[in-house]
Amino acid sequence: MKEKLLSLKNNAISLILETKSSSELEEIRIQFLGRNGEVTQLLKELPKIPKEERPKIGSLTNEVKNIIEDTIKTRERSLKDTKSQNVPFLDVTEPGIKPPLGHLHLVTQAISEITAIFTQIGFTRVRYPEISWDWYNFTALNFPENHPARDDLETFYLVGDPHGKKGRPMLNVHTSTGQVQHMEHSKPPFKMLNIAKVYRRQIDISHTPVFHQFETLVVGEKISISHLKGVLDYFVKSYFGEERKSRIRPYNFRFTEPSFETDVSCAVCKGTGMIKGEKCRLCKEGWLELGGAGMVHPNVLRAGGIDPEKYTGFASGWGVERVLMMKDGIQIDDLRTLYANDLDFLKQF
Ligand code: DAH
Repeated sequence: MKEKLLSLKNNAISLILETKSSSELEEIRIQFLGRNGEVTQLLKELPKIPKEERPKIGSLTNEVKNIIEDTIKTRERSLKDTKSQNVPFLDVTEPGIKPPLGHLHLVTQAISEITAIFTQIGFTRVRYPEISWDWYNFTALNFPENHPARDDLETFYLVGDPHGKKGRPMLNVHTSTGQVQHMEHSKPPFKMLNIAKVYRRQIDISHTPVFHQFETLVVGEKISISHLKGVLDYFVKSYFGEERKSRIRPYNFRFTEPSFETDVSCAVCKGTGMIKGEKCRLCKEGWLELGGAGMVHPNVLRAGGIDPEKYTGFASGWGVERVLMMKDGIQIDDLRTLYANDLDFLKQF
């Protein structure tokens, strides 16, 4: 009897596991557990078994019945989980599911590239807090009290008590904020590269309220405009390509004297301003504007505790998003798309 029960159990389990549909499974259930099923029959025959053996055989039969019921339930669930009922229980040859793999944002990629270019020639990358005071943003940089850049319409002032000496707290409007902060704890000669987020009240196709700038500041004895021009040229050739040229033209900034705008030759018209007899549509005149630069104003050196009689310096401040968009082959029509978290756009880079 015991052997009969065991082989019945094994037979039932293998039949259950071979079923491919719930109707097949139902047939097997009836075959074993139905009113005239094999297990039910055995239970009915229990009274015929000698009294002493009855409890043992009885409980064994019930155990077999429970096992069969459980196996049917498990099979029922797995049939439901298998999308197509013809698919084998587990197909080890199926290709695995690839986890989605991301990459660095293209602004982060640009920051790494810019950092590598400048550290190659001895610059040290630094960072200063994104929040500072009116002093580092304006006063120490030689801005007069009533300068329009100090207007709340252009800058984000923060709620909070003004600092005794440094004035109102605010989000940095430019990376030049790092100039005097850096001088406060550095002895010349030094070459610093400050890359950071800056904040301005502006949003349109070519402006976002948060963007990135990279600022260079070089201070030492006999630092001159030719050093500035050399570093500018080196950067332009390293970042944009050997064939690109750079130039400086006079401009005006409060914290540099003399001041310059720096330009890069246009990649589309190769610096000529013309394509097939017509004005280049990208630059119109052969040059694209990169950003500001100049020789550090003596008042700024003084604000940072550096003697302008002994030391001179140059500085530059350019936009990360701007150089990124000027790179040959990258076409971004609206700057805001950089920060729209649109994966279809970001995946391209
Ligand atoms: N801070 C200026 C701006 O945001 C850019 C700039 C101009 C930085 C001249 C400099 C500089 O270091 O020398 O528009």
